[in-house]
Amino acid sequence: MAGNITFTMIKPEAVSDGFSGAILKMIEEGGFEIVAMKMIELTLERAGAFYEVHRERPFYSSLCEYMSSGKIIALVLRKENAVEDYRKLIGATNPDQAEEGTIRKLYAKSMQSNAVHGSDSDENARIEAGFFFSDLEMF
Ligand code: CMP
Repeated sequence: MAGNITFTMIKPEAVSDGFSGAILKMIEEGGFEIVAMKMIELTLERAGAFYEVHRERPFYSSLCEYMSSGKIIALVLRKENAVEDYRKLIGATNPDQAEEGTIRKLYAKSMQSNAVHGSDSDENARIEAGFFFSDLEMF
């Protein structure tokens, strides 16, 4: 059965450009309940640990530098079928391929600065939520 939480980050440029409020509005209007949220700045090491699965990819260093370049907002979201439904709301990883009306189509600048991260599986959603939040911080 599909799980009911997903994890997301609003990425540095979307935060510094002032798109956080609009993105949060789309998340809530999309039927997701915010069960945890914090604004933080990742160190290069923490960004590297979060994206560890991509360590061998050519974009890894650049992605980690970018993700530690400014404030991000981390959230855990609850909804039935959360992972799949959230991926529909945000659109394709590459904003050039993102569908009209999606968060990335509206607010992404590039593949790296693609406005938001979204978990790709129920298992990764649990791992990623646990990377940022303790059980006591998820409501
Ligand atoms: P995200 O959902 O945060 O998960 C991994 C990130 O790697 C992805 O969004 C993109 O920002 C980035 N990414 C994936 N593929 C590429 C690529 N080919 N070039 C640059 N960045 C990429």
